[in-house]
Amino acid sequence: MKLKSLAVFSLAMLGFSSPLFAKASFEFITSAPSDKKLHVVFINDVSHLDGMSQVLDQKSGGQLSKLIQLNKFTPEKGNTLHLQMIGTVGSLLLIGSQDKDGLSAPELQDLGGKIASSLSSTAESLDLAVHVENLETAEALPSAHIAYGYHLRHYSFDRYKTKKSEGESDVTLVTTNAVNAAKLYNSDLAYIAQGVHLTRDLATEPGKNMYPQAFVDVVKAKFKGIKNVDIDVLDMRDIKKLKMGALEGVGQGSINDPRLLVINYRGSQKTDAPIALVGKGITFDTGGISLKKNEGMWAMKSDLAGAAAVAGTLYASAQRGENVNLIGFMPLAENMPSQDAIRPGDVLETMKGVSIEIISTDAEGRLILADAVYYAQQKYRPKMLLNIATLTGSAGRALSDEYAAVITRNFELSQKMMDVGKRSGENVWPLPLHPNHFKQIESPIADIKNSGAGNPGASIGAAVVATFIDEDLPWIHLDIAGVDWLEADIDVAPKGSQGWGVRFMDQLVRDNSK
Ligand code: BES
Ligand code: MN
Ligand code: ZN
Repeated sequence: MKLKSLAVFSLAMLGFSSPLFAKASFEFITSAPSDKKLHVVFINDVSHLDGMSQVLDQKSGGQLSKLIQLNKFTPEKGNTLHLQMIGTVGSLLLIGSQDKDGLSAPELQDLGGKIASSLSSTAESLDLAVHVENLETAEALPSAHIAYGYHLRHYSFDRYKTKKSEGESDVTLVTTNAVNAAKLYNSDLAYIAQGVHLTRDLATEPGKNMYPQAFVDVVKAKFKGIKNVDIDVLDMRDIKKLKMGALEGVGQGSINDPRLLVINYRGSQKTDAPIALVGKGITFDTGGISLKKNEGMWAMKSDLAGAAAVAGTLYASAQRGENVNLIGFMPLAENMPSQDAIRPGDVLETMKGVSIEIISTDAEGRLILADAVYYAQQKYRPKMLLNIATLTGSAGRALSDEYAAVITRNFELSQKMMDVGKRSGENVWPLPLHPNHFKQIESPIADIKNSGAGNPGASIGAAVVATFIDEDLPWIHLDIAGVDWLEADIDVAPKGSQGWGVRFMDQLVRDNSK
């Protein structure tokens, strides 16, 4: 017996789609501005200052190199030293940028994030010049990547704070190739950063407000007016009609009905088969009747991080007009214990016709993915399918913060994904999928069960999803339970949900577009 109140307050109506937090703007110029109080320079070698640091050292009569010595500053990548009153410069931030192989794009992005975090720029307004001409890198337009990294880091979720972070950053990048750098940043990289911020917004919002239909509302508002995008929403009636018993089952314990949100971006010819991205969207995971313990449960508001990353990726691709057909599938449900909830021991019928015995109602992600990946394949015939989910604590225990788990049916594909990860700044490491993992999910009373006897948890979760994937389809399974939620800040993100997956999937999309 569900009682659903009618007019619930809507985040989309409250302007959720436009960020409330401080903004940053980026300008690219070729010669050093004379009107900035705050300057940032990169140091490759303290005994041979180059670029702007050399100029400042000369202008200050050697004061800069003396202070570097006095403070024992070494130029290891990411080291910082903040100095005041160097010659005519009021405030100078030194950042170590030494790298024997040359800085990669993600390393440049980290340095950009380092600038933002060192200046705590969401708190106060900043007007700064960043001098990038002496960076050692093979990247053609390093300043664009510095700006992108700064933009990624310049984020705070302050909707519920009385005191908002209103400080705006005006960042001027001084670089030789200013026109092309501005173009790369403005027509491309800025959209990825906005996609990442959208993902963080969705994954940080408390479950009270971020229920399935609220997610849909925010996405609809955010994508309004973007070309070549169609949004399709399946509600409870559609879900029942399509016999998606797994998605229905997971969602039925909550007063907030489940949805399946589909964002279809047509950036290429009709004949071009799409790439399908499928993200787990559990808007809050209590565990259901297999209730989780209290400790840390609050962070389960971000159990929709996979779905949120899919939305963020679609946002970036559609905004920059990537030449690709891309469809995002976001099964959305709230996993709640109630008299309407599914029980351990229940059997659910999926859209594919495979029945699933529920061993634990807390192994719910694989259930909603089962119906979503099947629907994606049946209706849209993708050339490749990636699913992304905060699926198992097991993945986190195996790989910790450094790598998300990637599982495929083909090791070469996993290796390709490691390379995609390296270039995107979001790393993955393979875990296996063995015939024994399928054996472990055999059920005495149904076709399969939703969890095995125990180890290895991440592979068993993947085996459940794999049961619903056509064997010939290139398929990539990402388990991000260990990586998305940050216990401490990193260069490109403050602690909390980091929006993991947008940068990875964006790179994969680029590699597979025309
Ligand atoms: N959402 C959780 C996984 C999770 C754990 C995400 C920690 C983020 C941080 C998932 O639904 C879950 O509960 N998984 C269970 C599976 C088990 C019951 C087979 C787990 O990992 O313990
Ligand atoms: Mn769970
Ligand atoms: Zn979950």
